[in-house]
Amino acid sequence: MKVLLATEKPFAAEAVSGIRDILEEAGHELVLLEKYKTKEELLAAVADVDAMIIRSDKVTAEVVEAAKQLKLVVRAGAGYDNVDLKACTERKIVVMNTPGQNSNAVAELAIGMMIYMSRNCFNPGTGSELSGKKLGIIGFGNIGQLIAKKAVALGMDVIIKTDEIKEKHQRWNMTFSFDKLYSSCDFISINIPATPMTKGSVKYEYLVQMPKGGCLINTARKELICEEGLMQALTERPDLKYATDIAPECINELKEKFGNRVFATPKKMGAETSEANINAGLAAAHQIVKYFEIGCVKFQVNK
Ligand code: 3PG
Repeated sequence: MKVLLATEKPFAAEAVSGIRDILEEAGHELVLLEKYKTKEELLAAVADVDAMIIRSDKVTAEVVEAAKQLKLVVRAGAGYDNVDLKACTERKIVVMNTPGQNSNAVAELAIGMMIYMSRNCFNPGTGSELSGKKLGIIGFGNIGQLIAKKAVALGMDVIIKTDEIKEKHQRWNMTFSFDKLYSSCDFISINIPATPMTKGSVKYEYLVQMPKGGCLINTARKELICEEGLMQALTERPDLKYATDIAPECINELKEKFGNRVFATPKKMGAETSEANINAGLAAAHQIVKYFEIGCVKFQVNK
């Protein structure tokens, strides 16, 4: 089978060679499309492939239409909001992700952002420590759980927001209430997928409840934040801060108005470690091999 690795933001070379080895050993052919600049390049590359591995690359209805032979899309990563699931399902194309494979990299970035914001973005001046501070975690999947463990090791108190109590929640302080979470936590870390339910769910009414010096950390998706509400909260509360791995639409205005109280990475870098690239990339290649060998759909997300 012909497998396209389409990564506008390329994987580390070691991950790419590992993916190639796995696929070629199983008799497949790897086609590489890295750092592409236009949609047309992607449309041309998908024309005759049977499977594709992507990162945040957009698999739209147009891409699906152009990919006449496509049977399988593997998102090497967690979030698959960049894939038009409806268009894939209509064409009976299986879509998978590789859950957990890049979670540690994202969790480490979230902790790094908390330290960075607590230390005035590494500018001169008196900062504060994470130890003894309270961290609220919204979304307790692979990333949320790793952040919680690392935060405890740093001496933080952790509260998780949950909708239902599960086995994995038992050892943690929990709340069902957003009001309680925001009003009691010095840091809030957002770790949920972007869905019609969650988009815009981080809003003004919650943000303004944060204690003095409160800081919001977003390593998930920009769509989760109500940007108007964020702007209003930062305006009314000169002590609040926001750090994100996905620049909001209004980043220039935020930077201009709030300076170092707002930080955004220049390009999403949560999963940008060679370890995460290798874990997610190789897992994707193995999943492709197993799918074509034995029809394994363990990580299918469009069932
Ligand atoms: C994910 O959903 O896995 C992360 O957001 C990483 O995305 P990336 O592979 O585009 O960096």
